[in-house]
Amino acid sequence: MTKSPTQQSQQPMVELRPPSAVSYKPAEYWESLARDQLEQAEDPGLLGAVCYAGAPLWLNEFFAHFQRKALTRALRRVRRQRERGVTLEIGCGTGRWCQYLSASGPVVGVDLSPSMVRRAHELGRGPQFCLGMAQSLPFADNTFGLALSVVVLIHVPDELKPACVKELARVLQPGGSVIVYERVRPGLGAQVHPISVDGWVRLFVEQGMRLSRCEAHEYAPLLRLLHLVSKMLPARARTSRLAADQVKRPAGGRAPMTAASLSRLPLPLRLVARLVVAVSYPLEYVSGWLLGSRLANSALMVFEKT
Ligand SMILES: C[S@@+](CC[C@H](N)C(=O)[O-])C[C@H]1O[C@@H](n2cnc3c(N)ncnc32)[C@H](O)[C@@H]1O
Repeated sequence: MTKSPTQQSQQPMVELRPPSAVSYKPAEYWESLARDQLEQAEDPGLLGAVCYAGAPLWLNEFFAHFQRKALTRALRRVRRQRERGVTLEIGCGTGRWCQYLSASGPVVGVDLSPSMVRRAHELGRGPQFCLGMAQSLPFADNTFGLALSVVVLIHVPDELKPACVKELARVLQPGGSVIVYERVRPGLGAQVHPISVDGWVRLFVEQGMRLSRCEAHEYAPLLRLLHLVSKMLPARARTSRLAADQVKRPAGGRAPMTAASLSRLPLPLRLVARLVVAVSYPLEYVSGWLLGSRLANSALMVFEKT
């Protein structure tokens, strides 16, 4: 869906601040992002709050489509663990995966943003939601047969990641599994702290878990190319005039190109971007084979508590 210039000018600017210039306070960051994004009428799936904030809906829908495919496949493989009882999702946001999971069993979602949890409550009839931090989960030991982390730990600063994984291991039952879908390289998002596949595996193995599956996901080669090309354009050429008036430039530097910048491209470039996304759907199915797993942006890993 293409936004009018007036809508563009109302876009939040969170993602335009260079990460290094802003100290990341997760609770404040996610709460303010949720407040900005949850009222966007043109985003009925609320993807702006849980995918790329401020990005065009058609871009977020592309990523959401392939995430869902990957999770559906992974969930089939952990049916036995799901049957053990309740499933936990950490960093559940507005609860899109909890909703999805609740069709086939009880689910609890936990998130640090009160606005996300409130909205998840309003939307969800099946799952339960509560406020909490991944690094100090409000649950007893050995509670869950299955847990999920979808694009959450990537937003946790590196020094806190071991505490989050330790908590996941603590609340999982022995023999229980955790599905982890996280980025393995920086991308178009804000406040990401990606680590390599080996880094993710080490993190979980150090907390007594065993890797039982690892798949590469999210290639989007044309989008990467578009990102590279648009980075080379002068800021004036890649920002529509109306949007440019609203953009705060970092002192002495260029604003980084983010997924949200696609909403501010001049119309012809925005049409090219939309075409690139349309072509990226079929291309994504063969990209793994064409490019090899090393070039994937994300990984889906399943770990088992031994
Ligand atoms: C990119 S969104 C993903 C939401 C959800 N997993 C999904 O895919 O729809 C990241 C979510 O993680 C939450 N989050 C970030 N750090 C967290 C932490 N330390 N503890 C709990 N939730 C956290 C944020 O509030 C946000 O809702």
